[in-house]
Amino acid sequence: MRIICLPFARLRAWAITTATAVTTATAMPAQAQNTLPQLGKNSTAEVIAAMTLEEKANLVVGNGFYIPGANFPGMNSAQLNEAQKKVPGASGVTRGVPRLGIPPIVVTDGPAGVHVFNTGKGRVYYATAWPVGTLLASSWDTALVRRVGVAFGSEAKEYGVDIILGPGLNIHRNPLGGRNFEYYSEDPLITGNIAAALVNGIQSNGVGTSIKHFAANNQETDRNSVNTVVSERALREIYLKGFEIAVKQAQPWTVMTSYNLINGVYTSERPDLVTTILKNEWGFKGFVMTDWFGGKDPVAQMKAGNNLLMPGTADQVKKIVDAVKGGQLDEKALDRNVEGILNIVLQSGTFKADKYSDQPDLTKDAQIAREAADESMVLLKNNNNTLPIAANSHIALFGINAFNLIAGGTGSGDVNRLYTVSLAEGLFHAGLMEDGALYTAYNEYIAQENAKHPKKGFFEEFMNPTPPIQEYPIAPDMITRQAAIADIAIISIGRNSGEGTDRKVSEFYLGETEKQLIANVAAAFHAKNKKVIVVLNIAGVTDVTQWEDNADAVLLAWQPGLEGGNAIADILSGKVNPSGKLATTFPVHYDDVPSAKNFPGKEFPEKATTGMLGMKAIPAEVTYEEGIYVGYRYYNTFGVKPAYPFGYGLSYTTFGYSDLKLSSPTFTNTISASITVTNTGKVAGKEVVQLYLTAPVHKLDKPAEELRAFAKTSLLKPGESQTLTFTLTPADLASYNTTASAWIADAGKYTVKIGASSDDIDIKQTATFNLAKDIVAEKDEKTLTPQTPFTELKPVKK
Ligand code: BGC
Repeated sequence: MRIICLPFARLRAWAITTATAVTTATAMPAQAQNTLPQLGKNSTAEVIAAMTLEEKANLVVGNGFYIPGANFPGMNSAQLNEAQKKVPGASGVTRGVPRLGIPPIVVTDGPAGVHVFNTGKGRVYYATAWPVGTLLASSWDTALVRRVGVAFGSEAKEYGVDIILGPGLNIHRNPLGGRNFEYYSEDPLITGNIAAALVNGIQSNGVGTSIKHFAANNQETDRNSVNTVVSERALREIYLKGFEIAVKQAQPWTVMTSYNLINGVYTSERPDLVTTILKNEWGFKGFVMTDWFGGKDPVAQMKAGNNLLMPGTADQVKKIVDAVKGGQLDEKALDRNVEGILNIVLQSGTFKADKYSDQPDLTKDAQIAREAADESMVLLKNNNNTLPIAANSHIALFGINAFNLIAGGTGSGDVNRLYTVSLAEGLFHAGLMEDGALYTAYNEYIAQENAKHPKKGFFEEFMNPTPPIQEYPIAPDMITRQAAIADIAIISIGRNSGEGTDRKVSEFYLGETEKQLIANVAAAFHAKNKKVIVVLNIAGVTDVTQWEDNADAVLLAWQPGLEGGNAIADILSGKVNPSGKLATTFPVHYDDVPSAKNFPGKEFPEKATTGMLGMKAIPAEVTYEEGIYVGYRYYNTFGVKPAYPFGYGLSYTTFGYSDLKLSSPTFTNTISASITVTNTGKVAGKEVVQLYLTAPVHKLDKPAEELRAFAKTSLLKPGESQTLTFTLTPADLASYNTTASAWIADAGKYTVKIGASSDDIDIKQTATFNLAKDIVAEKDEKTLTPQTPFTELKPVKK
C-alpha cells in the first residue's frame, strides 16, 4: 500500500497560510520565540497563558466552509481551498496557532460514512455508504455496530480526518422527520446504546466523533428558528437520555449542539444544557461545537460553554474579542473553551502526525456493510412461509426502486460511494433469475426520467435535492405476462428524504400508482396461485395497512447502504435468516402518531428575518404536548393498536422462552433477571430478547412499560439454547420527578416482562419484584424549565 504521509512540518506550513490571514496584529506575550510553550510539550495552561486574545478567539471559531458553487459571506475561499487540500470534501476545519504548536484539525460528516468529494488531490475519492442509522439500530446488536464503527473510523483515519460529525441520535418523534434515517429509534435506550457502540468503534482508531444534534432537534421544518417547547421530564427521559448513555459509555470527543431553541433559548446558548447537564452532571470530557452556523450570539455561546463555533466567520471572532475587551465576556470563560479544544487536539491524528494513506480498504468494508445490513433488516410479514424463495426461482421484479436502490438519504448524511448494488443485481448475484423484459422497461423509464431532471451541482443539490422519480405506471398486460412465466413477484417501494425538509403526510402513504402496482401484481399472481413479496426501501416509516393484504411477505430493508441489493437478496434467498427488529413503531394511520397534531408546529411569518446563509428564517414553535408518550410508550399506554409494534420482527425459525428467574423477590441495590431462549424451529437464527419494566404508579404517571434492557443471542442452531442475564440498577427503575429535580424509583411492585416485542402478545415470560422504599437514583439541578407552563398528555387514572 502506498503511504502518503503529510508531515507535521507541512501541516504547520499549511496552518500558517490559513491562520495568519485572520490573526490581527496584537502584542504577543513577552516570551522570546524559542522559549514559547508548545502544545504537547508544555501544559495546556502554559500554552493558553502564551496565547493572545485574538489567537484564542480564532481557535474557538472554525476556519470556514468550502462547498464548490457556494459563496458564504465573511469567508475567504482561498483559505478554504487550502483546507480542502487535506481532505477533499471536509465539512470544516479549526484554526491552528503554529507558533505554539497547535495544528488545525479537520472534521467531516457524517453518520452514514466519511464525507469526501469525488475529486481532489488529482484523484477520485470514495467512502463506504453504511446502512443508515435506523437500519443499524434495527440490528439491536451493539457488537455488530461497534464493528461497523471500527471500519468506518479506519476510513476516516486513512483519509486524514480527525473527527467524524456523527452519529446522529435524535429521537424519532414523528415519522415525517426528514432526517429520521440518520437517527436510530423512538426509544432512548436503544438510541444511546447503538450510538455508544458506533462511537467506541470509530474512536478505537484514534479518530473522534461528534454526537449530534444536541438536543430536541426532531424536525427539519424551520430547523434554524424553531423553538421546541418541551417539559423537563420529557427532555430528561426521552430527548436527552440517549446522549447521556452515549456520553457515559463512550466519551465521544465532541458533541454538536443543534440549530433549534429549547424553551426559548438556542441550545448552543444554554449554559444549563451545555455546561450543567452535559459537562457537570454527565462528566463529558470533550468539547462542544455548534451545528453549521447554529445559534445567534457568539458571546452567549462562549458563556454557555459551547467551545467551538462552526464553521466559523470573521464576525464571530471580532465579537468575541470585542466582548472580552469590553468586559462582557470573562476571558476565563474563553480560556475554558480553548482548553476543551486543546485537550482534543492533543489526541488528534493531525497532532500526532499519524500516517494516512488516502486509500482505505473499501473492499473489506463493503463486506462489513453487507453483513450489517443482513443482520438488521426486519421481516414484517411472511404468510405460509413465502420466504425464503426457492433456489432457481424465476422472479418478476417490479418497482423503480428494484432497479435503482436508495442506499441512503440526502444532505450531509449522503455518502460519495463507488457503486450501489441494486436489488435486481443482488438477485442476479444470488442466482435468482429475473426477467429481462422488466429490466429493460424499468431501466428505460428511469433513464428517460433522469434525463428530464438532471442532477444539479453539489450545493444546489444539497439545498434543493432533485425530486425522486415517480413510480412507473407499468402496463397491465406486462404484469399478466409475468404472472404466466414467473414463479414469484417482488415489488420494491422506495422513499427518500434528507436534510432541510420534512416529509409530507402524502409521502407517508403510498401513491395511487404504487398502490395500483401492488394491487395489479397481486391480482395477476394470486390468480395463478403465485406469491407476492414487497420490499420497503424507505427513509422513514410509511403506511402499510392500505396495501399489505395484497402481499404475502413484506421485508423492511430501510436504506441499506452500498451493498443493499446483495443484502436484501441474502434475506430473500434464505442465505441469511432475518433477525432485525423494529426500533420504531409502524402506526395504522398517520393520525395515530401522538405528535401528529403538533408537527411541525406553527410559524410566525410576520416575524420573518434573514437567517443562516442569507436564507429567510421564519420564527416557529413546536410544543411537545405528548410529553414522554413517544412511540410505544404512547401506543401501549393509551391502547392504540399499531400496524407493527416497536421491537417486532419475524425469523425463518421460532424461539421458545423459559425459566425467567429474578435474583431476588425484592430490590435492594440491583436485581438480575435471567432467561433461557431456545431455537425451536428448523433453521439457525438469532433472537433479540427485550426486557420491559412496568413501574408502580403513585406520584407520577408512567408508561405502560418501558424498555430497560435488551440483548441479541448468538446464532442458535435448531434445538440450541442460550441463557441471558440482565441486571437492573436504581436508575433503570427511576423516572424524572420534575418537582424534586431528581430521578426517583418509586416504592411498590415492578413487573419484568421479557419477550420478542413491546406488544403484550409477544411477551413470553413475566415476574414481579418489590421495592420497599423510594430510591433517589440521582439528584440534579433545576434546568431547562419551559417559559410558560403548558398541558401535557397524561393517561386518565384508573
Ligand atoms: C448539519 C450537520 C452537519 C453539518 C456539517 C449541518 O447542516 O445539520 O449535521 O454535520 O451541516 O456538514
